[in-house]
Amino acid sequence: MSIRVFSGVQPTGNIHIGNYLGALKQFVDLQAEGTSVEDVPHRSDQSSLNDCIYCIVDLHAITLPKDPAELRDSILDVAALYLAVGIDPKKSVVFVQSDVPGHAELAWILMCNSYTGELSRMTQFKDKSRGNESAPTGLFAYPVLMAADILLYDSNVVPVGSDQKQHIELTRDIAIRVNNKYGDDTFVVPEGRFLKDGARVMALDNPTAKMSKSAENPHSFISLLDDEAKIRKSIMRATTDSDGEIRFDPASKPGVSNLLTIYGAFTGKPVAEVEREWAGRGYGDFKKAVAEVTTDALEPIRRRYAEIRPSDELRAVLRDGAERAGAISEKVILRVKERFGLGA
Ligand code: AMP
Ligand code: TRP
Repeated sequence: MSIRVFSGVQPTGNIHIGNYLGALKQFVDLQAEGTSVEDVPHRSDQSSLNDCIYCIVDLHAITLPKDPAELRDSILDVAALYLAVGIDPKKSVVFVQSDVPGHAELAWILMCNSYTGELSRMTQFKDKSRGNESAPTGLFAYPVLMAADILLYDSNVVPVGSDQKQHIELTRDIAIRVNNKYGDDTFVVPEGRFLKDGARVMALDNPTAKMSKSAENPHSFISLLDDEAKIRKSIMRATTDSDGEIRFDPASKPGVSNLLTIYGAFTGKPVAEVEREWAGRGYGDFKKAVAEVTTDALEPIRRRYAEIRPSDELRAVLRDGAERAGAISEKVILRVKERFGLGA
């Protein structure tokens, strides 16, 4: 049996190196472990094959108000970035969530099988709704829609950054709960996949908070499309500390530790090795080196993005992806409706 991989990214704001190192890079690596669908027409017969589905989760993006024109642009921006980082639409399915109706449909069914208590405990909801009496119901139900995304494709593995751990746990809880009620093979119970290094990249200006798309200070994050000058500036300005030692210690040296994580992730070296390499040297030189490895990694992505984003092929890829995703999801929806006794 092939391993079904599913993940999604919201089409909002700037995709940054946290998204890349925590999530997108894993998407590409997992795909490389597989073989092109064209090479293998009967994928389920193959054992070493990953069957990857990568989604642009636009329904998640409207849990907070969005300008329609901006949203439409952001969807294509993220689609182009998916391809620019190395997701190959011949090997993987790439599509937009709202183009496949099963997501919203399954989300409703799962909402009837999740509890307001467990949703109230989700930290992302607590953070985003804090003090807001009129937080949208969709923001509250956000993790249930995410569970629907994953369960709709019988996904085995979900590569994400560690900030999504709680949502993955909830997805598993809901799947197991439904299976207990409606039959063990109603849903495949998925596993999260988190990287050791890069699972959580911190904000450059405040290394005790995660790097975020919505930061107001542009030097808080590095976008995948930033040029060399911006990358250098943001890294040279990154908050460190005054003891001058390059050492990995996230509790007392969060800034330096974050730079070590970034350097290690972009060079493929374990953090301990980077620490040894830089022991006894100064922050200034280290920051220059971090800027350099970051620029080297992002430059080809930026170049490919500039070619892909304006091309007509992008929409064709998304249309084809929606068709393929639709076909897989329809079978699961039929199975779930049959188990629940829904429909004529
Ligand atoms: P989002 O932009 O919230 O849709 O996130 C897309 C993916 O990037 C998810 O898998 C997140 O877990 C991951 N991600 C977001 N921020 C970070 C971060 N600062 N460090 C590592 N991974 C992240
Ligand atoms: N909630 C995820 C995030 O904020 C995005 C997401 C939505 C997702 N649906 C998903 C990730 C399904 C993995 C699988 O990053």
